[in-house]
Amino acid sequence: MFRWGKVIQIRKYLQFCKENPLEFTKEQLGRIEADIRYPRKGVVSDEYVDFVLWKKGLKPRQEYFAKYVENLFPAAKYQKLLEVGCGRTARLSKLLTAKGYKMSTMDPQICPESVETYDISWEKEAFIWGKTDIKKYDGVVAQEPCDATEHIIRQCVAEKKDFIISLCGTAHRLISGEMPEDISAWYRYLEEIGGGSCCLVNSEMIPGYASYIMIGIFQKKELFSQKE
Ligand SMILES: C[S@@+](CC[C@H](N)C(=O)[O-])C[C@H]1O[C@@H](n2cnc3c(N)ncnc32)[C@H](O)[C@@H]1O
Repeated sequence: MFRWGKVIQIRKYLQFCKENPLEFTKEQLGRIEADIRYPRKGVVSDEYVDFVLWKKGLKPRQEYFAKYVENLFPAAKYQKLLEVGCGRTARLSKLLTAKGYKMSTMDPQICPESVETYDISWEKEAFIWGKTDIKKYDGVVAQEPCDATEHIIRQCVAEKKDFIISLCGTAHRLISGEMPEDISAWYRYLEEIGGGSCCLVNSEMIPGYASYIMIGIFQKKELFSQKE
């Protein structure tokens, strides 16, 4: 059957590819095309969300999360942040640097050329629970960091390090190798690791999308009691 909606989407997609406002790779652009042509029930790629926000004239995802981080972890108290799973271009770290944070970031996929002219220290390495040193940071932040999620939560809970993670919309394999049955099972598991000092928030941080955000506050509780 001929579908006008899809034709319009493809036209917009081609325009998005031409402008490529977020410097996506061919593979990332391909994920958007796949989500348009072969939609999956209840699941879309991060890139597709970015495409939809662009179509609506809204800001990219990282801008909303940067604002969220700024509200919860003000730069005056959380000067040194580690971003985990920053992707190729570390867009979130660049935005947070502009807001006055001293950013460090790590991701095996980071593209050094895209960060070397910024005042950001970076490592092309995976964050590993029990191995990555987070002592020198005031907090850890991550936006949809996939498999790194459990590593970050375990490490931060063990060291009582404050963190904010915007969780992925699909479940990821656990460190044990097991695959959670579905997204709720994964979120439940992460909440259990977090224990009483962490909470899972369902936020409309990005207009039109429900974002699940896991927050751990251990050291700077006085900040929040002052705000209440
Ligand atoms: C879905 S992408 C999100 C990228 C970016 N934060 C964003 O929101 O556009 C997930 C990223 O997490 C990275 N990642 C996965 N496991 C990691 C780990 N253990 N340590 C650091 N980065 C990791 C991947 O390489 C990938 O770039």
